[in-house]
Amino acid sequence: MRGHFITFEGGEGSGKSTHAKTLAERLRSVGVPVVLTREPGGSPGAEIIRHILLSGMVKPLGEETEAILFAAARDDHLRHTILPALKSGSWVISDRFIDSSRVYQGALGKVDTRLIRGLERVTVGEAVPELTILLDVPATVGLARAHHRRGDNDVDRFESESVEFHERLRDAYLAVAKSEPHRIVTIDGRAPRNVVAERIWAVVDERLRPRLARIAEETAP
Ligand code: TYD
Repeated sequence: MRGHFITFEGGEGSGKSTHAKTLAERLRSVGVPVVLTREPGGSPGAEIIRHILLSGMVKPLGEETEAILFAAARDDHLRHTILPALKSGSWVISDRFIDSSRVYQGALGKVDTRLIRGLERVTVGEAVPELTILLDVPATVGLARAHHRRGDNDVDRFESESVEFHERLRDAYLAVAKSEPHRIVTIDGRAPRNVVAERIWAVVDERLRPRLARIAEETAP
């Protein structure tokens, strides 16, 4: 693996997609080749599986089947997008990756940890992200943002259905982050967008500075 692999995680309205994009743009502006991708999806095969999963068609088959399909999508994504990009020296930024499965299927869906970890081993193997940014926001903040984005008028119904789920989601993410403090950096997503973006940049710069410095030297006039 020659490039670097960074993932973003977080719940609804955490800002992860925006910040994944902002980081990709900033890295590109200093000469780093970046592939910005997302899960489920990110390769033609995985996009087909995404369609099936997000349609809700698989739900009646149970959480285990869903977990296996997320893993199958990840396998395709790795083979066709992530690994070739890393091999060619690009940095890969993925909006969601293994921690989404640990949290949504594992912690919330109650799929046995051994199945989750087993699927990780056979799909991801050594290609674990070097850095994962977890954007943490309280459920009510995330839901209010998501609500604003959707322009849904039915606030009460939407919120009453989702607050408890999103609180559990947040706790599960924080527990996963605690279990791997070297890889996962938790950033408070409540701050203004530019402040969060600066914090993310500081983490990336600190972790991957030697590599960034080399690229700056190579691209200097
Ligand atoms: P998406 O529409 O991409 O929204 P977002 O990432 O902004 O939340 O939906 C992806 C959904 O898939 C999201 O609800 C989380 C879920 N998911 C899992 O349950 N397990 C996984 O392994 C992944 C990658 C995603």
